[in-house]
Amino acid sequence: MTVGLEITGPFAVITLNRPDKLNALSFEVLRKLDARLDEVASSSVRALIVTGAGNKAFCAGADIEELRHRQLMEQKRGAELGQAVFEKIARLPVISIAAINGYAFGGGLELALACTLRIVSANAKMGLPEIRLGLIPGYGGTQRLPRLIGEAHALDIILTGRTIDAAEAERIGLANRLVDTDVVAAAMAYASEITRFSVPSIGFARDAVRRALDLPVAEGLKVEADLSTLAYRTADAEEGLAAFVEKRKPEFKDA
Ligand code: COA
Repeated sequence: MTVGLEITGPFAVITLNRPDKLNALSFEVLRKLDARLDEVASSSVRALIVTGAGNKAFCAGADIEELRHRQLMEQKRGAELGQAVFEKIARLPVISIAAINGYAFGGGLELALACTLRIVSANAKMGLPEIRLGLIPGYGGTQRLPRLIGEAHALDIILTGRTIDAAEAERIGLANRLVDTDVVAAAMAYASEITRFSVPSIGFARDAVRRALDLPVAEGLKVEADLSTLAYRTADAEEGLAAFVEKRKPEFKDA
């Protein structure tokens, strides 16, 4: 199975499973990942964790052998497929965390960029090396990286194609956390810090922040006013406010 899916309690764990090729994203892997995301979207999990099989790589990017000798339109459709699959992750009803356990290059890093958050192990090495192949990133990297870490860092990474280590990734905000323990277990613990809250409110907060990056501030503030009012209308908000006043822990029901 090139892309595994395991449900562990409230979490789905998707594992790219092609360790002999450092979990490189062949088109078959992309299509299986797409199908796995549909399974996650229709399940009742509260968060998704994405990782790579083995202890060497999260994902070494698009399958370079497959990229050779392609017609231009075939290549364009391939980029659109990669973009669509990663956009599906970004738009899942639940948060996603990339558990980066080694190399995350090219499409591998772009996959991690589509996740809500990123956690890296100490041996993680990341980059967008496409420029070294005479290419440029095509699965969302040129759009998501500057939004995440700013134009200057993004241009540095994309134009030099250099490798970023775990410490630098954390320093520049590419990784939210750096851990020296098992990265999938750490990702689950990280997800638990969020999923104990109301899933609808988590979704509203994530959507408000995401829209902020595409809209002028005045428009974004309108979105925030709408989404915060929607959150206020949930039973969970009523419960959260009541629990504070009654000095007890809230019991959220995702409603
Ligand atoms: N596509 C296809 N196969 C890949 C791959 C990719 N992106 N990345 C690694 N592999 C394959 C290698 O060809 C090798 O296969 P083989 O054993 O059949 O020869 C196997 O995975 C192991 O890779 P190897 O290069 O021997 O491991 P390494 O530890 O020496 O180097 C990397 C690791 C990640 C530095 C190196 O594999 C690399 O630079 N990969 C390409 C990264 C990249 O440019 N990604 C963007 C693509 S657009």
